[in-house]
Amino acid sequence: MEVVCVGSGYVGSVTGTAFAVLGYPTTIIDTDLRKVKEINRGNSPIYEPGLASCVSQMVSTSLLSATQTYDCVYHADVVFIAVGTPSKSDGTVDLKYVRSAARSIGEHLNAGKFTVIVNKSTVPVGTSDLVASIIEEASGLHNNRHFAVVSNPEFLREGYALEDVFFPDRIVIGTASHKAMKVMQKLYAPLVERTDYSGLFEHFAFPYNINSPKAVYFETDTKSAEMIKYVSNAFLSVKISYINEVARLCDSLGANVLDVAHGMGLDSRIGNKFLQVSSGWSGSCFPKDTAEILFESQKYGSELSLVKAAIESNVSMHDYCIQKIQRSLTSLNSKNIGILGLTFKPNTDDARHTQASYIIGKLVDLGANVAVHDPKGMEMFQQMNSHLPIRYCERPTDTAAGADALVLLTHWDEYRLLNWETIYWQMRNRYILDTRNYLKKLNLAELGFMYEGLGIQ
Ligand code: UDX
Ligand code: UDX
Repeated sequence: MEVVCVGSGYVGSVTGTAFAVLGYPTTIIDTDLRKVKEINRGNSPIYEPGLASCVSQMVSTSLLSATQTYDCVYHADVVFIAVGTPSKSDGTVDLKYVRSAARSIGEHLNAGKFTVIVNKSTVPVGTSDLVASIIEEASGLHNNRHFAVVSNPEFLREGYALEDVFFPDRIVIGTASHKAMKVMQKLYAPLVERTDYSGLFEHFAFPYNINSPKAVYFETDTKSAEMIKYVSNAFLSVKISYINEVARLCDSLGANVLDVAHGMGLDSRIGNKFLQVSSGWSGSCFPKDTAEILFESQKYGSELSLVKAAIESNVSMHDYCIQKIQRSLTSLNSKNIGILGLTFKPNTDDARHTQASYIIGKLVDLGANVAVHDPKGMEMFQQMNSHLPIRYCERPTDTAAGADALVLLTHWDEYRLLNWETIYWQMRNRYILDTRNYLKKLNLAELGFMYEGLGIQ
């Protein structure tokens, strides 16, 4: 089978490379010439642990290539749509890239061959029907006869995308076409059966368990598949907001949220994942997906009020962190604040829609001088936040020079390994706010710092 993947962003580049690794000749289409050239040189167009070596190996064995044109669609058996689906100003999803990709696919379909078009992008419920109608119009062919559209949502966490793509909990396939179901079963068989995994593991930067339970392959209709993606992300957002609120209550009552979360997670009905306290969830998925599903639910008079509450709670969690700093420094005016971590989580260079942007913006508004560091995300953060008058530091310790407070927003490994004794002497006032409770084990209070986490004593 020949695979095409439209879009080489955080999802498309991982998806396309994964199918090449599974042995399928794969072509990635992207309108961005820079990304196309990077891939064809054997480089990953994004930072994702392990991806660069996979791309390099797949390009050198000619299983993977990239192009700006859609000609390859003519020979393809399966075409993934993995273009971005940004939010519009009202919170709804902008489908212009999906529409444009569908149109171009339609113009290049082969009338003599059954092609499956797979929606990987996160799209509102009903978009598969829209994609089918655009393709019908552009190609003059018939949905479910000459081609079929499948919804196959991605569940990749940035930073762990290779692990999630090769060891997923579930693969969700939604389509009305029996023929497309068969094609998808064949396509995913090596992944479900874990054949052809030899040679793959050298690329993993994380521990993985080859004996972990195999993925559940779940077939349903398109709308249910589209909905599974949204409501899963919304559920996870609610779960994080809940533990974040519990952390605030722990602060008031003197309990320890690390133990509380651990104790809760021991109940298999609750589970121990996604109970890590933070200054709030962010990134290119949760904020966008919660806003969209809330909007849809309100439109149809079935408001997901828990999701609405989680969105509000998340912003109040950002504010809670700012209040903690304010309380410690009395006033933020002319205070020097160092920020460690700009990306929405570690192991990614993705600094789109990160909580750092909100929190730093507020600190600047309150008169603080802000110095920032991130191992991978500074360039993107600067592009997205050029209005912020802040100092970008090459080394994390540079943010501590003369600082009144250091705030850890993203728990990059390297921050735990910093020389905190040196940092002590660099700072003017030794307040540390650790929004991930990540430095707790370092006992920074014993070194003389005023150390605070969230919900820990
Ligand atoms: C993905 C999803 O598809 C989105 O729905 C989900 O919510 C988050 O993950 P992402 O991979 O983050 O989006 O998008 P991005 O990194 O912006 O990459 C999209 C790529 O598609 C870019 O490289 C862009 O150049 C390309 N593109 C966009 C096209 O090739 N054609 C277009 O018409 C538009
Ligand atoms: C998410 C989904 O997890 C994934 O399945 C896919 O659908 C894409 O969207 P991603 O956005 O890459 O993945 O990151 P994720 O690991 O889910 O984290 C999202 C945000 O929640 C981050 O800001 C993260 O720091 C935060 N988070 C996560 C917490 O604050 N606490 C947690 O316990 C887990």
